Amino acid sequence: MLTDNHGRKINYVRLAVTDRCNLRCFYCMPEHGLEWLERTALLSYEEMLRLCTVLVNMGIEKIRITGGEPFVRKDIMQFLEALSAIKGLQQITITTNGVLTAPFVPQLKPMGIHSVNLSLDTLDRERFFAITRRDELPNVLKTLDALLQHQIPVKLNAVVMDGRNTQDILPLVQLTKSLPVAVRFIEEMPFNGGDSHYTQLQWDHLRILHTIQQAHPGIEKLPDPPYSTAYNYQISGHVGTVGIIAAYTRSFCGTCNRIRITPQGVLKTCLYDDGVLNIRDLLRTHQSNDALQQALLHAINHRAKDGWQAEKLRKEKGPVHESMATIGG
Ligand code: GTP
Ligand code: 5AD
Ligand code: SF4
Repeated sequence: MLTDNHGRKINYVRLAVTDRCNLRCFYCMPEHGLEWLERTALLSYEEMLRLCTVLVNMGIEKIRITGGEPFVRKDIMQFLEALSAIKGLQQITITTNGVLTAPFVPQLKPMGIHSVNLSLDTLDRERFFAITRRDELPNVLKTLDALLQHQIPVKLNAVVMDGRNTQDILPLVQLTKSLPVAVRFIEEMPFNGGDSHYTQLQWDHLRILHTIQQAHPGIEKLPDPPYSTAYNYQISGHVGTVGIIAAYTRSFCGTCNRIRITPQGVLKTCLYDDGVLNIRDLLRTHQSNDALQQALLHAINHRAKDGWQAEKLRKEKGPVHESMATIGG
């Protein structure tokens, strides 16, 4: 088992395969002034496969593919196929916006993809356009249909934004009545690539829960699986579940089992660190797998205990300009 210097089990990698995206969710990135990474700055699929093989040998059991939007990267399916062949890797999951995903869905299960998290902030086409700056809701809904049809476990992610989509909370909850999905409401975090609209969190997890409870007083708390980002609930008689992710107000540090790889191959051992190891350089200077493993172990053995507290102090000094797309969520 892989553990860090604070005794926390590390078994989960979030691998961002691209910084690019075909949406422009205003809570994630600005519409203009974006500079995508050069192709050569990204880890190649070969480099990612080698890295993932080393990580699985060290004790990683689950890899979540994120971005940016994973399906905008060319030949992503070939990469997923190769990834699923790594021995010892127990789970591959994907977080996607669903714009391009539907046609690939039939191939996911045979390939061993365990589940998909689909971003869906609203069921209203105009509000979807207002939030993402693209008119793509019909394609996202096609992806949802395809996932359900192929019985792939789905979590829907909705970032809750004051004045933008709070009227969608109850309609999204209503999806759980007949669909076997986990609808998860997420507190908005200030990772929007520098837009200045973010001032203060208006909708924390308690306010979201209260809104749902007013319409569904009997909503029941479910036990949360280990390492769950969400507090989980279910409405009696509904087939799906409701989750609330206190991404902003809650500290996940005590049980944090995850590390992150950015699209350019930088290791982050905490959501809030600036990157602690340039893996791409190691890969490109022909280091052995042993040397790579030693460098990764060193980083994991020098992990911050409480990045969340440190971030709170940092924020008091000034605004944060990172984008979720370059962190991998
Ligand atoms: P699973 O537990 O693997 O289903 O994934 P997840 O819920 O972590 O993944 P997903 O990519 O769907 O992300 C959902 C939300 O949780 C996003 O807003 C993420 O940024 C947020 N999130 C994921 N990990 C962390 C974390 O370590 N800390 C905080 N604060 N938020 C996180
Ligand atoms: N705050 C909270 N969640 C965010 N996501 C992207 N940006 C933010 C933000 N600023 C979510 C996306 C996606 C998940 C990986 O992260 O909606 O579902
Ligand atoms: Fe793209 Fe996801 Fe960012 Fe939206 S939140 S712009 S879908 S990466």
